[in-house]
Amino acid sequence: MIAASISDYRELARRRLPPFLFEYIDGGSYAELTLRRNIEDLQAVALRQRVLRDVSAVDLSADLFGVRCAMPVALAPVGLAGMNARRGEVQAARAASAADVPFCLSTVSLCPIAEVRPAARNLWFQLYMVRDRGFMRSLLAAAAAAGVDVLLFTVDLPMPGARYRDFRSGLAGAAGPAGQLRRAWQAACHPSWAYDVAIRGKPLTLGNMTATMAGKSGLQDYLGWITRNFDPSLTWDDLAWVRQHWPGKLVIKGILDPEDARQAAAHTVDGIVVSNHGGRQLDGVISGARALPPIADLVGDQLAVLADGGVRSGLDVVRMLALGAHGVLIGRAWAYALAGAGEAGVSHVLALIRAEMSIAMALTGATRVAEIRRGNVQLM
Ligand SMILES: Cc1cc2nc3c(=O)[nH]c(=O)nc-3n(C[C@H](O)[C@H](O)[C@H](O)COP(=O)(O)O)c2cc1C
Repeated sequence: MIAASISDYRELARRRLPPFLFEYIDGGSYAELTLRRNIEDLQAVALRQRVLRDVSAVDLSADLFGVRCAMPVALAPVGLAGMNARRGEVQAARAASAADVPFCLSTVSLCPIAEVRPAARNLWFQLYMVRDRGFMRSLLAAAAAAGVDVLLFTVDLPMPGARYRDFRSGLAGAAGPAGQLRRAWQAACHPSWAYDVAIRGKPLTLGNMTATMAGKSGLQDYLGWITRNFDPSLTWDDLAWVRQHWPGKLVIKGILDPEDARQAAAHTVDGIVVSNHGGRQLDGVISGARALPPIADLVGDQLAVLADGGVRSGLDVVRMLALGAHGVLIGRAWAYALAGAGEAGVSHVLALIRAEMSIAMALTGATRVAEIRRGNVQLM
């Protein structure tokens, strides 16, 4: 199958990955209402066609936290991405660098920061807070030593949302031999993935976490470990702790409510990501597309407002920008591409987004990113 769109890469990923990994990427929490709303609400935003404007030169470039990027798009943090292809985070970081956009490494990646660093020109790091603060200090020190440009502090996962697909597929709730056997059988039925990742892609451990997981940094009961060790007692006061240990750019990821956006703006942060974690946390919350406009109106002139959720094309990026985002994160779009075709797949998806953005800008009469405004879309 030749992939021509992001949904084609989803299909390639479905064919190539063992089900416990495909369902982990593709799924959301509970009945997946929010997962669907993210996509549907964004696609329901109508682009306003304008004609007879000189669109012979369309410039997609934009600043993200003081760095000029080819387009205002970054690869969102995706945990376990290194399971999608051999040393997957390195491959994706290379593709992001070639396309001149930032790559954000998840705390729960397979490849540690130091392994990804040489591959990424513009490296962001996403922080989950675990209870062990000594370890948190060393993780932040490692990010600083690697010259990470921007820290995304994810605050919408005090505990993981229930993802039914992960239970059905065998990723969650099965730490013992039964679970291992199930996953091994699925891997054996997907030999090209198994050879690429399970054999040649070792070590299959959470590279940033080995120091705190007491020798259990493999995938055994990964979700159980998160439940036991992520810190649900976090408050706005802990933000001061992060700020104290992180001198660089700091962005809060997982804001969905204007009141929280207002509080974020009252702290010394550089930006926020309007996000519901790709519909993987509290099912039933509003979509990124619906949450974004009031938040952008409230704090958009004080902070960088990034947004994500449901972006499946360059047209969706333009929609998010028109709704008020200064930058847009893509999650599943790159994870599918990495699973389907490795680095080349991620490069292709970024090229698709670029081409689709250019066309959407030209046909809405915007020749620069700064010209994309609310007036370029009609809310249905
Ligand atoms: C498989 C998967 C793993 C994810 N892991 C993380 C993570 O480790 N940290 C984080 O802050 N967000 C994580 N997210 C959320 C993404 O960063 C992003 O908010 C979301 O994917 C955006 O929605 P989209 O997938 O529709 O683009 C993950 C999302 C997916 C799909």
